[in-house]
Amino acid sequence: MKFGYFDDEAREYVITEPKTPYPWINYLGNEEFFGLVSNTAGGYCFYKDAKFRRLTRYRFNNVPMDVGGRYYYIKDGDTVWNPGWKPTQTDLDKYECRHGLSYSKFIGEKDGVSSELTCFVPKGTNAEVHKLAIENVSDVQKSLKLFSFIEWCLWNGMSDMENFQRNLSCGEVEIEDSVIYHKTEYKERRDHFAFFSVNAPINGFDTDRENFIGLYNGFENPQVVEAGMPRNSVAHGWSPIASHYIEVDLAPGEKRELVFILGYIENAQEEKWESKGVINKTKAKAMIANFDTTEKVDAALAEIATDWKRLLGVYQVSTGDEKIDRMVNIWNPYQCMVTFNMSRSASFFESGIGRGMGFRDSNQDLIGFVHQVPERARQRIIDIASTQFEDGSAYHQYQPLTKRGNADIGGDFNDDPLWLILSVSAYIKETGDWSILDESVPYDNDASKATDLFGHLTRSFNFTVNNLGPHGLPLIGRADWNDCLNLNCFSSDPNESFQTTNNKMGRTAESLMIAGQFVLYGREYVELCKRRGVDTAEAEKQIDAMIEAVKNYGWDGDWFLRAYDYYGKPVGSKENEEAQIFIESQGFCTMAEIGKEEGLCEKALDSVAERLACEHGIVLNNPAFTKYVIEYGEISTYPAGYKENAGIFCHNNPWVIIGETKLGRGDKALDYWKRIAPAFREEKSELHKMEPYVYSQMIAGKDAFKPGEAKNSWLTGTAAWNWAAISQDILGIKPGYDGLIIDPCVPKDWNKYKVTREYRGAIYNITIKNPSGVCKGVSSLAVNGEPVQGNVVPIQAADSVNEVDVVLGGKS
Ligand code: BGC
Repeated sequence: MKFGYFDDEAREYVITEPKTPYPWINYLGNEEFFGLVSNTAGGYCFYKDAKFRRLTRYRFNNVPMDVGGRYYYIKDGDTVWNPGWKPTQTDLDKYECRHGLSYSKFIGEKDGVSSELTCFVPKGTNAEVHKLAIENVSDVQKSLKLFSFIEWCLWNGMSDMENFQRNLSCGEVEIEDSVIYHKTEYKERRDHFAFFSVNAPINGFDTDRENFIGLYNGFENPQVVEAGMPRNSVAHGWSPIASHYIEVDLAPGEKRELVFILGYIENAQEEKWESKGVINKTKAKAMIANFDTTEKVDAALAEIATDWKRLLGVYQVSTGDEKIDRMVNIWNPYQCMVTFNMSRSASFFESGIGRGMGFRDSNQDLIGFVHQVPERARQRIIDIASTQFEDGSAYHQYQPLTKRGNADIGGDFNDDPLWLILSVSAYIKETGDWSILDESVPYDNDASKATDLFGHLTRSFNFTVNNLGPHGLPLIGRADWNDCLNLNCFSSDPNESFQTTNNKMGRTAESLMIAGQFVLYGREYVELCKRRGVDTAEAEKQIDAMIEAVKNYGWDGDWFLRAYDYYGKPVGSKENEEAQIFIESQGFCTMAEIGKEEGLCEKALDSVAERLACEHGIVLNNPAFTKYVIEYGEISTYPAGYKENAGIFCHNNPWVIIGETKLGRGDKALDYWKRIAPAFREEKSELHKMEPYVYSQMIAGKDAFKPGEAKNSWLTGTAAWNWAAISQDILGIKPGYDGLIIDPCVPKDWNKYKVTREYRGAIYNITIKNPSGVCKGVSSLAVNGEPVQGNVVPIQAADSVNEVDVVLGGKS
């Protein structure tokens, strides 16, 4: 069952039924100001950091869920309705939510009045702009009463939810003309305030929640709206809000457009005040003036569309399959940009309070957006590397506002350092900017401790070398990529966090996933060394030793082991009662092609197909844990089939997909991808539950109560990894150090497809033909009619447009 449809032309997902199986959301903003907006206009916004600079209040875990947002109440006689259906939930004659690229539109129609609310964050602006058009489409005069509404958060998303003995006495506002200013804590340590404006005279306002809503009413029936009369309340403590009241009289066919701005302003200390107790509003007024007409608003919206056209233009495919094309051309890169902006901090599953930017997460996310915003990717790499410790290890997370490591969240995840090699090499392959390796980058944000970035990579590589266990395999530390495989935790106290408890920091538990990662990214490191003229003999020796260790101690007969536990016993082995096979080591060891010649990769992936794959994707482990295993930690706490316990953790499925492409099995690779790609799951939205336009972190696995039900959409490494898998490894257009590598691995029955790729300033129109029905192997390559040996398209002059003809042949 579907709840809407893709409008590929407009690059929108159009939701036509407000009661989606879960709030289906979108993100506004791409720079420093962001909004989360659901299909019924719920959500909140913040400046840079959803914890420390939250403008509007949002109650997660509310009943019913998703109340609170940017609400416009239209009162037409006794009927009150909202363009986005909520919160009144008045039946609409027409409802549409169009989630587009960095904007959302709500189209509502009721009793001859139609409304269109467009929300977005203009470029270079720390504000949400809401354009509201109201039209009388009836043949009678309409006298409408319009009430806007937002609720202020007292800035700190965390204390706003708990410190009521203080909060309820702090709130302060100012009202001037049609603008409501929120200035809680401004008089002391804050140098920022927020405002909510409208570009028209108002007939009244409210700024105190109790006055507006009423203590015994809800968002769905505010007493002021019911009465049709504002109270002009001024908040003193309690809960400040902002609501404008505007009388809108419309003749038949008449339309009125209003522009509301929900903005954030910072003032320098010496410029904070206009007069005693009155905030300096100069910057706010300038911002309001930038959008005081609908023409200006439309121009700002068009600017965003132009940007997206350019960004998405970097990679466009035409396969003839609309679902593949819309994932690759629109939604997957869009989601990658959102993960770049948010990491794992703010979604409808991440409260914006708990997590900042993950070291491993942000490095992996980078492979999904580096082709879109290489300059910002460069800065991101420097920011991440600046939090690294001198021994190569890392804070697991850092706060976006301060860019400093956050020790509260735990550390000692021994996979963390190696992801830096992935991101840096991906950046150089995309841009050719080798100078990044020479950048001076601090350790732990301490400038007195700095080396060049290349030195950071050396320490990342050596961190594994210096932390090997009894089998010569990498020590896992607290956990590796799988946060929940806590082999040194041994927690029996429900009040402890698996992510921070330190019970048994032993030097026995080893990870086969990190082993594969070390071989894969170690080779990448060696390549960088060679190109810098750095001797690689020692590094190569270490990689070879790791390959041997995996073959000798990491092979279970039909698949790669997952780990060795604290007691030196194998994890992910036939010997185990539960969880005999895991996905991560199969993915990483096959991506690294360990034992490929001896047939290990093929065997491992055949075992994946047999034991882990199901119709909704590939589960993480099998059989699922049904008992808590103290020496394995959090992984065994989840009910079977969910999350890291045999859920389909979509982040790691592409590792297997890429592994399949290394074996040349294109049919299998695409088949796996389609099982989890959201556009392919749209028809079963009632089961899948999450948005059909973005990946979810997890789909319940075959052992779950409800296989196929997804959770945790948007902020997941799934976006970046699937982008890599489909665009580079299946469709086969891969940036390399010396040019674009063409190495498709597609289903045998594909006979032709085209990719346009913008790369290092030139355009490549690539046509791939497959006359003999193979999966993989380039048999001929021509650039602008000239044959080229091998499968690398040499870098062409900037601004040139090049025709690339590829014929697949070789072995199928
Ligand atoms: C985290 C990742 C982790 C994954 C698997 C996600 O929630 O953000 O860092 O690799 O879970 O445990």
